[in-house]
Amino acid sequence: MRVTVIGTGYVGTVTGACLAYLGHRVTCVDTDGAKIEKLRMGESPIYEPGLEELMRLGAERGGIDYQTELAGAVRESDVIFIAVGTPPLPSGESNLAYLEAAARGIGAAMDAERYRVVVNKSTVPVGSGNLVGALVREGLLESNPGIADSVRFGVASNPEFLREGSAIHDSLYPDRIVVGTEDEATAAVMRALYRPLVEQEFADPSFAPRPVARRVPMVTTTLTSAEMIKYSANAFLAMKIGFANEISNICERVGADVTEVMTGIGLDARIGTGFLNAGIGWGGSCFGKDISSLLHTAGEYGYQARLLEASLAVNRLQRQVVIQKLQEKLYILKGRTIALLGLAFKPNTDDLRDAPSLQIAEKLIQMGARVRAYDPIAMDACREQNPALRICYCNDALSAAEHADALVLVTEWPEFGNLNLADLAGRMNSAVLIDGRNMFSPEKARSCGFEYAGIGRSNGRATKVAPVAPPA
Ligand SMILES: NC(=O)c1ccc[n+]([C@@H]2O[C@H](COP(=O)([O-])OP(=O)(O)OC[C@H]3O[C@@H](n4cnc5c(N)ncnc54)[C@H](O)[C@@H]3O)[C@@H](O)[C@H]2O)c1
Repeated sequence: MRVTVIGTGYVGTVTGACLAYLGHRVTCVDTDGAKIEKLRMGESPIYEPGLEELMRLGAERGGIDYQTELAGAVRESDVIFIAVGTPPLPSGESNLAYLEAAARGIGAAMDAERYRVVVNKSTVPVGSGNLVGALVREGLLESNPGIADSVRFGVASNPEFLREGSAIHDSLYPDRIVVGTEDEATAAVMRALYRPLVEQEFADPSFAPRPVARRVPMVTTTLTSAEMIKYSANAFLAMKIGFANEISNICERVGADVTEVMTGIGLDARIGTGFLNAGIGWGGSCFGKDISSLLHTAGEYGYQARLLEASLAVNRLQRQVVIQKLQEKLYILKGRTIALLGLAFKPNTDDLRDAPSLQIAEKLIQMGARVRAYDPIAMDACREQNPALRICYCNDALSAAEHADALVLVTEWPEFGNLNLADLAGRMNSAVLIDGRNMFSPEKARSCGFEYAGIGRSNGRATKVAPVAPPA
């Protein structure tokens, strides 16, 4: 099929490369000329493991090209994906300006030559599927009213569930594909588009091997349900992490270890082991934005979603835990040097949107501390996007730790797991380690000379009571 993908960010670039890999002929369009230039050179505008390789394979298989001009691509396409950003406004509402421009642009370019499907992959407030349809029609009426009655198109909502850092794996082997649409012709086009993915009829790339051979379920719903599925999934995942964090704060007070507690509850099949790692809170471009947007929608209908409100509040507070722990260990933060390990909101990405690291660094600097940082991938992005943030960027973890008063593990990059803790501790003014992701073994860290504090771990205070021996 001929496919256009509008927006070459985290979602659009991956979607385009995957669809081309499956054999579709793809054109990716973005208004950002610099991104398009990079993509044309075979370079990904984002850090995502395997993406450049998939772009190369996609170009060989279905074919893929990149351009800034939308109209020609739309005219040649059967399916047009919208994958532009929907960032939050200060009110919590989603900013739909990019989506609106894309939808009108599609309408303005339409002709009566073929039936087209406009697929919304951006995360949009409930009801936006109808909005996309209305905007496409408006664009059409504004630029080509004479043919408006003969132009045929359908609208689908196809929310994206990929995780940055494992986006290729998630896109080639999704748990499910959700398609919301109100008409059968559109559903049929979407089934044809995704058939290779549903049937898993493609050779798996060497860098993203197929985990298990199985058909991918396709959930077909109304437009509104598809939009609600995306928000509900993110709200639930954020709530699960928030729950682990809430419990971690109680664990610390009673002398329990949250990692043991979460293992114990996660093995219950009704609960599941994923997203139960306590830490310094979730970040990224989606959870906060999507919960705020869902809250806003609920509010428009006169409903106060208290669980969602609590989820945001718990996460906000959790980010302050690092500062409290530093104060407990060092008392005074003014004039201290704090080294941050990791800046990205999670490992394997350079994405810093709503990253806890930024808030922690800002707060420390505000309190008079000096902040040093090392991140394997996200330092350039951090420097570029936060020029006013006075962070001293270091070449590696060891130089970040040099003469520092405390080390804070912010992002659990796998390479940090291999650090020589004794070497790190030996370079510091005072060997304090705040393990914001519970990455290290407290016993090991302490035996290497660190004064260690994890999240929700008993910090050695609790005494293990030996089981009472049965009477002889
Ligand atoms: N990043 C994720 O992990 C993720 C996961 C699931 C869903 N989503 C959702 O997918 C959408 C896209 O997210 P993202 O992270 O890829 O965004 P992004 O900000 O990385 O990329 C958006 C791209 O759209 C381009 N753009 C904006 N207006 C345009 C227009 N009119 N025409 C062409 N290009 C235009 C921008 O230049 C940018 O390159 C959002 O709604 C987001 O909530 C994101």
